[in-house]
This record gives sequence, structure tokens and C-alpha cells, in this order.
Amino acid sequence: MGLKKGAIVELEIETTAFGGKGLGRVDTMVVFVDQALPGELVVARIVKKKKSWAEAKLLEIKRPSRDRISAPCPYFGYCGGCKWQSLAYPKQLEYKTRHVSETISHIGSIGNVKVLPAIASEAVFGYRNKMEFSCSDRRWLLPEQMGKPGIDITFALGLHVPGTFYKVLDIDECLLQPSQGNRILGVIRDYIRNSQAPVYGLRSHTGFWRFIVLRHCLRQDEWMVNIVTAEEKRDQVEPLADLLTTKFANLASVVNNITARKAQVAFGEREILLAGKPYLVESIGKYSFEISANSFFQTNTRSAARLYELVARYCELTGREKVLDLYCGAGTISIFLASRAARVVGLEMIRSAVEDAAKNCRRNRIDNCSFIAGDIRHTLKQVDFAPDVMVIDPPRAGMHKDVVKQILAMAPPRIVYVSCNPATMARDLVLMKDDYRLVEVQPVDMFPHTYHIESVTLLDRKGMAER
Ligand SMILES: C[S@@+](CC[C@H](N)C(=O)[O-])C[C@H]1O[C@@H](n2cnc3c(N)ncnc32)[C@H](O)[C@@H]1O
Repeated sequence: MGLKKGAIVELEIETTAFGGKGLGRVDTMVVFVDQALPGELVVARIVKKKKSWAEAKLLEIKRPSRDRISAPCPYFGYCGGCKWQSLAYPKQLEYKTRHVSETISHIGSIGNVKVLPAIASEAVFGYRNKMEFSCSDRRWLLPEQMGKPGIDITFALGLHVPGTFYKVLDIDECLLQPSQGNRILGVIRDYIRNSQAPVYGLRSHTGFWRFIVLRHCLRQDEWMVNIVTAEEKRDQVEPLADLLTTKFANLASVVNNITARKAQVAFGEREILLAGKPYLVESIGKYSFEISANSFFQTNTRSAARLYELVARYCELTGREKVLDLYCGAGTISIFLASRAARVVGLEMIRSAVEDAAKNCRRNRIDNCSFIAGDIRHTLKQVDFAPDVMVIDPPRAGMHKDVVKQILAMAPPRIVYVSCNPATMARDLVLMKDDYRLVEVQPVDMFPHTYHIESVTLLDRKGMAER
């Protein structure tokens, strides 16, 4: 067919597709349009063309959706963070629920699955407890900033624009973090810009300042600032830590992580404590958790509490069960379940997370939890009991086939599967569907204004007669 790259097309958006894009058609060709909403009539330019599908850039909305709202963020449409800010929140939840349901029936070919409406996030803005801002010597300019005098294009502290790895959008305010985070970021920006040390160039791999990671603890309303640099220069970072602690009374921790690696990951090989303590303490339910700069913790604390309560409800523990918590991270789910079970064993690959998990057990006076560090493919074999309930919370990539095989051989009567990726969840559920009945799926929204959705699936082992 004649549709070429660069062609301008008019099309009606039918639904949302992977990545939150609008999906429409030009004749039989499927066209994905970024930022277009279902029901809209749009004009778009084809920017990528494959055999059966194309991608297009939105140029004009001829007939807007009734669910379109004006996005409050000034960087909306440029920063890749929250693509659905222009979609009313109840509609976001509806699309997320539908996406989970359709993914299970398409990829999983599992029909008649009960998918409950997504549980809303209590906070729709300011919900992220961790934000990672990058430094760059190349600033990405907004259209209204182009050619304006007085803008330094060799400095940026902010977020990446999709498709430009080395340019960074300088951000004054990100609405996803609590507002004090923006004030802290502003002080850091002024300090770094006026410092003697250069910001890191993402192409040249030279420079000093690399990332600023802000963490917030909701219960105590305390902050951690993690300054990630390319080398150790105490004369640069110590005055910044002093400045921050004098300006912000609830700044509980300032650390400096140092990394010489070229990879764009805000993870240090070495950490120096500059002020306060090296961790924050966050609570979920009656439990408290130490979170250090490099530990994993769910980014939406309020929704994490809803998620863990749901996991506990699905587990239906009476105090007698032995529970296996696969991909347990810093043991938060294990700890949340421990008082309702006889024993909980958590399996996790990252050794420091397992150390955090053990520390958090001591902190919460829990003595019936233990953890095994290593790749689950190998460590599952070390489990020396038959679990009554298995909680599985894999990374986005889902489970390795060998792991699924081992789980099926262990045959726990109940599985509670937590996932942040409906596609890999559906793939894993297919592998288990002959042995397990899919009772229900409950999506939980942890990430408003993005197309991401967390889901919890309850699976019960089929009776022998049923199989
Ligand atoms: C989605 S997180 C789960 C976090 C945890 N359940 C929580 O709620 O905080 C997935 C975890 O799986 C771990 N992981 C990934 N691949 C693994 C593997 N092959 N073996 C063991 N752990 C793995 C990651 O390090 C990460 O901590």
C-alpha cells in the first residue's frame, strides 16, 4: 500500500495500544499515534513504517475525546514520564483494566478470566517516593526556549526526553514527586551550576556531577539526597550537603555515591555518608523498613500498602502455612506476611537486598523469616519444604521457563502472582493454566498518568479430577 514515511494522514483512534499510544487504521494498516486518545479524530505524520503497522506523530486533534483534559505539567509531551496526563484519571483506570484483561485473553489465550476494576492510587500527583534526575552538558530545549537569549545550553539537571540519550530536559518541577522535592532540586541546581566542577557529558563521558536521586519517606516526612558523581571530590559535595541540611530541617540523609561506570545507572560502586544517617525509615502497615540509597522499595508507598494488603488477603493465611516468597527484594512482602504464617522463606538474587531483608526482620522482631540469596533458577532447589502458598513477584521480564517448571513440580496449593507487566504475566499464566485455576486478577494502580499497571493474580491448584 502507498503509505510512506512522511505522509500526513487523518484517522480515528479506536483504542489504546502497548506503550499508551492511540491505535487507529489507515485502510488495513495499523497506525500508532503517540498522545492520541480513543475516540479522537486526528491528523498525524507517519514517522516509521513497517509491513503491517506504522507510527505517527500527532499534528492536530480535529475532534478531541470527551476524556481529554489539560495536562498540568509544563513539560507534558516532551518528557517521556507521564504520557496520560491529558486523560481523565477514571478513564486511565478503565483503560488499564481493559489492557490487563485483553492481554490475558490475547497473549494468554485464557478466556473468561475475572479481571476486577483497577484499584485507584490514593494520590494522583506527588505519589513517587523516589525520583532520579540526570545531569548533562547538553540541554534539550522546549520549543518556546529555542533561540531565547540567556539560556545556558551546556547545563541541564532533569529528565530524559525519549529518543535523545545525551540531552536532558532541565526540570524545575516534577509533579510526580512531593512538592518539597522540587524545592530541594532547585537548591541543588543552583549550587551545581555555580560550582567549579563540570556536569557529566553523556557522550564524552567526562565531567563530575552525574545524578541527583531524591527519596521521600511518607510516614516521617523525611528526605534523602543521593548525589551521584563520577569521582570523589569532597570539597565539592560537602558544602552542598551543608547547604541542604541548613535549608531543609527534614533532610534525614545526604549520601554521595561514586561510579566510574559509563552506563547511565544511578548506582554507586562506593558510598560516602555526608550528613545524617545512611538510610530512611518507611512504614507500611505496622512494619518499618530501612531504605538505603541503593535498596529497592516500591515507588508509590500508599499503593504499595494496598498491594501488600491484597496479597495478604489472597494468601488467606491462618498462621499454620509455610510460605515461599519468590523475587522477594528487601523482604517487604515476607515481613508483611510473617505474623500470619508459620514460616516464610524469601528468594532474591541481589545480595544487598537480602541483607536489607534480614535487617528489616530484626527491626520488626520477626524470627520466622529467612532468605536465600542467588538466582531463583538455582536456589529453588535449596528449598527444603513443600510450600502451602507461593507469592511470586518477578521483574518486568517475568519468570524463566525453568523456574515455572520447578514451581509446577513443587505444586503449591495456592499461588499469588504479582506483576508489573501484563504481557509477561499473561505468558507465565499460560504455562501454569493446565495445573492452576485462575481465580481472579486485581489490577492495582501504582503509576497514575503512565500506562503502567501492577496486577495481582490468585491461582488455585486444580484438583486431580479437573485436570
Ligand atoms: C519486582 S521486584 C520484587 C520486589 C519485592 N517483592 C517488593 O515488593 O519489594 C523483583 C525482584 O526480583 C529480583 N530478581 C530478578 N531476577 C531474579 C532471579 N533470577 N533470581 C532471584 N531474584 C531475581 C530483583 O532483584 C528484584 O528485587
